[in-house]
Amino acid sequence: MKIAHISDIHYSKSWMFLRDLFQRCLAMVNEEKPDVVVITGDVTDFGLVAEFEGVHRALEELAAPYFIVPGNHDARHEGYKKFEQFFGDRFFARHHAGYTFVGIDSSEPDIDEGHVGREQLRWLEDHLSPRAIVFLHHHLVPIPNTGRERNVLVDAGGVLKMLVAHGVPLVLSGHKHVPWVWNLNGTAVSTAGTAPCERTGAFQSFNLIEIEG
Ligand SMILES: [Fe+2]
Ligand SMILES: [Fe+2]
Repeated sequence: MKIAHISDIHYSKSWMFLRDLFQRCLAMVNEEKPDVVVITGDVTDFGLVAEFEGVHRALEELAAPYFIVPGNHDARHEGYKKFEQFFGDRFFARHHAGYTFVGIDSSEPDIDEGHVGREQLRWLEDHLSPRAIVFLHHHLVPIPNTGRERNVLVDAGGVLKMLVAHGVPLVLSGHKHVPWVWNLNGTAVSTAGTAPCERTGAFQSFNLIEIEG
């Protein structure tokens, strides 16, 4: 199984959103023929309707089905309601290609910090297994070379313990705009860079993950 992981599109009129790079990213993803695309939030910059409209339309170019969760930027200005209008549920579990794709909403309106919360955590536990691939916007573990750490999930410890206890093989996230992977007790915890955003600059990329067996 091949997963393309895109994060932090930050679709906007800002000079930091590089439209050409975004189009190239979508074309490159399609060339790779992934089974599924996972998009881990910050699809907009300010949670505005025009941004949601633009990114939603652009993502129609993806040939593969995609799963998407919101980031902190998508929850600005009541963007979380707009997110639901354009993309549906903010957290969900869907079966696809022999795996359960579990999307978590770690955003809070107008707050940059990540938060899963007790209710969602209880829901999450029912969907975890060695066949679950979990994804959320905020990183669970600090990422090297990203400056002072401020936005790790406030309840990261409890989430990590649960993921590892259930043998979840793969966790995908974004937010830091820097690609990295930690291997924690058998769970690969991976973050993606950003394809089209100049914020933090150097990591214009997306991740490809291939799972064998
Ligand atoms: Fe971001
Ligand atoms: Fe973010």
